[in-house]
This record gives sequence, structure tokens and C-alpha cells, in this order.
Amino acid sequence: MQPSVMSALKILIIPGSTRTGSRNVRLAAAAAYHFVQAGVDVTRISLADFPLPLYDGDLQAKSGVPKHAINLKRMIGAHHGVLVVTPEYNSSVPPLLKNAIDWVSRVQDPNEIRGEAFRKRPFAIAAASEGRLGGARALAALRLILSACHALVIPNQLALSFADQAYDDLDRLKQPADVDALAMLARQLIDFSQQMS
Ligand SMILES: Cc1cc2nc3c(=O)[nH]c(=O)nc-3n(C[C@H](O)[C@H](O)[C@H](O)COP(=O)(O)O)c2cc1C
Repeated sequence: MQPSVMSALKILIIPGSTRTGSRNVRLAAAAAYHFVQAGVDVTRISLADFPLPLYDGDLQAKSGVPKHAINLKRMIGAHHGVLVVTPEYNSSVPPLLKNAIDWVSRVQDPNEIRGEAFRKRPFAIAAASEGRLGGARALAALRLILSACHALVIPNQLALSFADQAYDDLDRLKQPADVDALAMLARQLIDFSQQMS
């Protein structure tokens, strides 16, 4: 299902961390500002509101896909574009995020092909890490994972380096270059979302 194109453009932001003080949740908040500035409706969720067991094929065969996976898939389906903001764990994405994507990829609503939530809207990716690479390896992994789900992942991405020093007290990015990179990412996701609507 695709949201109405008559309504304002809707962008969903999914942070891949639920940690208190998460640098990626803060980056998600900074990104939301750019979408709001562009007149876009933004929904910023927490994966804590979509608790899921570790993916288990036997569990799926016995009980079906958990309702929170169905809800998350429908949340994605209610938006024209999605920004995923991921931490980097050992050069890849954290299990919280991978598990959520794995479950959502198993949801198949009536009259839909599997993975429809990924196929019908563009995805943008960003990462924040206190390291010099800013989570660039997690972004490579996330791009691959989303592409495997048949998502179109837009070319622009943001790896925010030294994220422990990147924000001011109001969670705004301090460096103009980071602000510009985030603005460009938001702009490109808006453009792709409009084209695919
Ligand atoms: C298990 C684990 C592995 C990590 N591996 C990396 C890594 O490979 N590269 C990196 O830059 N940071 C790594 N970190 C540090 C996280 O990127 C950092 O804690 C980050 O702030 C977590 O994201 P959050 O603040 O949004 O929760 C790792 C942290 C954990 C807990």
C-alpha cells in the first residue's frame, strides 16, 4: 500500500539504537529538522516500541510473524520514504536493526508481494560513531541488506565521525560540513520519494 500522493510527503526515520543518549537517535533528531524545514511530515520511531524476538523460522512456522513486525512493516508502508540511522557494531549493523529488517522482510500482507514495504519507496542511510570512520562500514552493510530486500537505497549517505563531539546542547550538529551533508541527504531522499510516489 502506498500513502496518498495528495497528502504532504511523509518520511519515516528509524534509529537503529534505543540506548539512552544514543548518538544515532540524536542524528535522527537532527535529520528530522531538515525534513520539517522542507515542509515534509516526519515520523520518528523507536524500535523499543516494536519489540521482536530474535528471528526464528520455527517460531514463524508455529505462530506466524509477530504483530510488531507487521506493525513496523505497515508503518514503513504509510510513508513515502525512509531514513535509517544506524550505529556500527563490529563493522556492521547492530542486531536490533538487522533483526527488525529480517522480520519485516517476512511480512506478506494479502494481495502484496513479499518485501513490498522495501520495494515501493526509497531508503536513505546514515550512521554516527565516535570513531574516525563514522560508521562507514555499517553503512556498507546496511546498504547491502536493504538492497537484498529490493529497496532502492539513494546514493547520498552520511557517516558522522567523532559523534561524541558532534552535537551542541540542543542536539544540533556543530560542524557546518555535517549540517550540509545531512541537508543534502534529506534533500535527495525527498526528491527520490517524490519521484517514486
Ligand atoms: C558491540 C559493539 C561493537 C562496536 N563496534 C564498533 C565499530 O566497529 N566501529 C565503531 O565505529 N564503533 C563501534 N562501537 C561503538 C559504537 O558505534 C558506539 O557505542 C555508538 O555510540 C553506538 O551508537 P548509539 O550511540 O547510537 O547507541 C561498538 C559498540 C559496541 C557495543
